[in-house]
Amino acid sequence: MKVLIINGPNLNLLGRREPEIYGSQTMDHALGLCSEIAEIEYFQSNHEGELIDKLHQVGFNSDYAGIVLNAGAYTHTSLALADAIAAIELPVVEVHISNVHAREEIRHRSLISPVCRGVIAGFGLYGYRLGVEALVRG
Ligand code: DQA
Repeated sequence: MKVLIINGPNLNLLGRREPEIYGSQTMDHALGLCSEIAEIEYFQSNHEGELIDKLHQVGFNSDYAGIVLNAGAYTHTSLALADAIAAIELPVVEVHISNVHAREEIRHRSLISPVCRGVIAGFGLYGYRLGVEALVRG
């Protein structure tokens, strides 16, 4: 079973971006942890439409157990992304590296949580692995 991991805006800078919040390890580290338990495909984009296109492309493919999505700041703003998640058949697990509920109030609201299978936040890069586990074992 394959799992698609999608990262949204600014997550290409992991390791260099605000390390006090997101840590100093790169996405390669997270992908290594995830690859121990599933076949992983990885996609990152800073563009909302490209994230939606990817969800449409893979979202009806039963070769995949599901999708792990860190939508970055689009989590808090994008009704279009929420609609795309609602439209597809595969389950989507929402992941955040930081504990968004312990941060600014604007980050407490997620437009995508209601249409995701579940939410993982605050466990650093290990959250991606937890998301993959939830999909392949759940
Ligand atoms: C994030 C949290 C978001 O609020 C932020 O905009 C991000 C990263 C996280 O992984 O903690 O870009 O999704």
